Amino acid sequence: MSQDSNGTLPDSIILPRHIAIVMDGNGRWAKRQGKPRHAGHRAGAENLRNIVKYCGDIGIEVLTVFAFSSENWRRPKTEVALLMELFMDALKQESERLRKNNVRLRIIGDRSAFSARLQRQMGETEAITAASTGMLLQVAANYGGRWDLAQAVRRLAERVKTGELAPGDIDEAAIAAELSFADRPDPDLFIRTGGEQRLSNFVLWQSAYSELYFTDAYWPDFNEAALDQALRHYAGRQRRFGMTGEQVVAERKENTPC
Ligand code: IPE
Ligand code: IPE
Ligand code: MG
Repeated sequence: MSQDSNGTLPDSIILPRHIAIVMDGNGRWAKRQGKPRHAGHRAGAENLRNIVKYCGDIGIEVLTVFAFSSENWRRPKTEVALLMELFMDALKQESERLRKNNVRLRIIGDRSAFSARLQRQMGETEAITAASTGMLLQVAANYGGRWDLAQAVRRLAERVKTGELAPGDIDEAAIAAELSFADRPDPDLFIRTGGEQRLSNFVLWQSAYSELYFTDAYWPDFNEAALDQALRHYAGRQRRFGMTGEQVVAERKENTPC
């Protein structure tokens, strides 16, 4: 961990390289306070700023957050419009802060459904932060795990059509290589706030071996201390990847320098 951490986590703790978060519960957070839903989305955006800073400080390599799903277009028009405005404002306002904090932004998802203005801003913020060498922040917008798989398969089919690839070459690695963030490790830790225990079409393929963590906290309330709790929980799990617990212990001993 870097020394910027707030010190509540032990230095020796095993941290995930990649955290994926379903930021759920903004609407209920607002309702609980007697406020309109958009107040919850605003508070959620503010919380994201804090969590991004914190994850960068403690040395997380990749943070992937679900901001807008392929299915969220089904919400009332006014809420969708508000979310688009919020997205636009956040991209504009956060560019410099992200760059200063050495965070690189990447938007994942089907951008073609967004307005030309928003697509332009996405490209601009990505460009402003492109040289950052610290954490990669992936914001999933109009993203769905099934969409991701479908676009990967489509690309493979195109390569088969040109003769570059034979159908028999399509294996797990070939599919994985066409997914949205093929150049990064799969999420080690998958967090969902807001009390629901479902994936809601987030990173489906890539979460095959993620540790799942569900919390009742609404996203605007999920602060650094709440994340620390999730990280402690993660550190206490034994990831076996199909092996036995004994094998995992033996392997760890082999790889530990004396
Ligand atoms: C998550 O919070 C934000 C988005 C899906 C954009 P919700 O808006 O789903 O909040 P709840 O689930 O209604 O409380
Ligand atoms: C998942 O939350 C999507 C995001 C957080 C962006 P939803 O609130 O849309 O999920 P469901 O509809 O309850 O499954
Ligand atoms: Mg929700």
